[in-house]
Amino acid sequence: MAIERTLSIIKPDAVAKNVIGQIYSRFEGAGLKVIAARMTWLSEQEAGQFYAVHKERPFFKDLVSFMTSGPVMIQALEGENAIAKNRELMGATDPKKADKGTIRADFAESIDANAVHGSDAPETAAVEVAFFFPGMNTYAGR
Ligand code: PPS
Repeated sequence: MAIERTLSIIKPDAVAKNVIGQIYSRFEGAGLKVIAARMTWLSEQEAGQFYAVHKERPFFKDLVSFMTSGPVMIQALEGENAIAKNRELMGATDPKKADKGTIRADFAESIDANAVHGSDAPETAAVEVAFFFPGMNTYAGR
């Protein structure tokens, strides 16, 4: 199975709930390694750029507003099948539909405050990792 990298964001609601450590434990328990991380407060411009693919969707403004409402914890994860594995750990976008035991089922309240983001495909993972960690290959945790 391929070793992949994926981009994960612990969103403002989960940071405010003080569950960064619990979420990191889930990454580690699933064999995903945190190979880069940074805590930051996104500007409107950064959030808008990051979510530009959704800019025509009705919730775009709310999404940017939520993602800039408090600090976020951003990490690149590496491991076998990391992209799908992280999405499995996260659960469905709407926490009400997320499987029991997933991050969103356990820590998220609603579809607009849903605790975590994770890249959904190899192409987006590459773009998203580079967005927050330019020059990543120079300090990969191998
Ligand atoms: S996904 O994860 O891309 O398959 O889900 P999608 O439904 O396409 O949603 C894209 C991102 O938008 C967020 N979202 C919303 N934000 C605010 N309000 C509403 N109603 C809403 N619906 C979806 C959703 O959490 C996704 O964010 P990320 O950070 O990509 O998970």
